[in-house]
Amino acid sequence: MESLKTKNQDGKMIPLVEENRWLREQLMLQNRLAGVGAIASSVAHEFNNVLMVILNHSKLALKPTANPEQKNIALEKVVQGCTKAAGLVNSMLGMTRNSGRQMQMTDLGQLAAQVVTLCEKELQKHRIRVELSLASPIPTLVMPALLEQVLLNLVINARQAMPQGGILRLGVRANPEGTIGEIRIADTGIGISPDKLGHIFEPFASTKKPDEDGRGGSGLGLSLCRQIIEAHQGRIRVESTLGKGTVFTIKIPLNTAKQAA
Ligand SMILES: Nc1ncnc2c1ncn2[C@@H]1O[C@H](COP(=O)(O)OP(=O)(O)OP(=O)(O)O)[C@@H](O)[C@H]1O
Ligand SMILES: [Mg+2]
Repeated sequence: MESLKTKNQDGKMIPLVEENRWLREQLMLQNRLAGVGAIASSVAHEFNNVLMVILNHSKLALKPTANPEQKNIALEKVVQGCTKAAGLVNSMLGMTRNSGRQMQMTDLGQLAAQVVTLCEKELQKHRIRVELSLASPIPTLVMPALLEQVLLNLVINARQAMPQGGILRLGVRANPEGTIGEIRIADTGIGISPDKLGHIFEPFASTKKPDEDGRGGSGLGLSLCRQIIEAHQGRIRVESTLGKGTVFTIKIPLNTAKQAA
């Protein structure tokens, strides 16, 4: 049977399945950029703070009255500031790169730490304390930009579920055999009622309204998270208690380059 066709962006006739695939990719990219958009202003503020630290300590180091020890301390602060700024820029670039589907050897603990680096200020602003328990290294062959997108979606959901502030716990570990990586994101937010819990991974299942900038509330975040995790042969599950909080647990098989070859 001849496959169904449709016109693409350039007016060319292409199979409908191809158009479908293209639209899914666009949705995925849209969600990634929306996630980055949600934290962009806090990241810019943080970057500015780091620049101020660098500037002030550079001035201190240049003071003619500063003794060698004071100059050294000031220059160490400059180096720390530059490292932090580079980390912010790299994490941001990593998140926006379009080569989302490239497999790369990645340390899961470091990947989670990068996402936290980006979200730190945004969470602080909403009076959310972060508790980390990141085992490292947990090297595995994954699509890092897509996994970062999953974590960002989960962190933003957790943030939105704690309008009065709270605690976000992020844990990354491997099972004792080193075959499965586990990422756990727990919040102390509003929780999810049992009747909704079974549907939250379905597309368009949202209880939120778009914010003042028209962002969020598409209900696509978790369905994309599930697609991404399943593309890694993994599983994502949720447990929640209304009024107490929610825990998302992701398990993905750990692939070393040797196994994957
Ligand atoms: N950590 C959480 N705490 C409480 N409810 C949650 C949490 N995460 C998800 N939910 C519920 O699951 C629904 C679906 O989440 P999902 O991320 O797919 O969409 P959304 O956040 O509503 O929209 P978008 O992600 O496009 O901004 C949310 O509307 C919310 O009701
Ligand atoms: Mg969401």
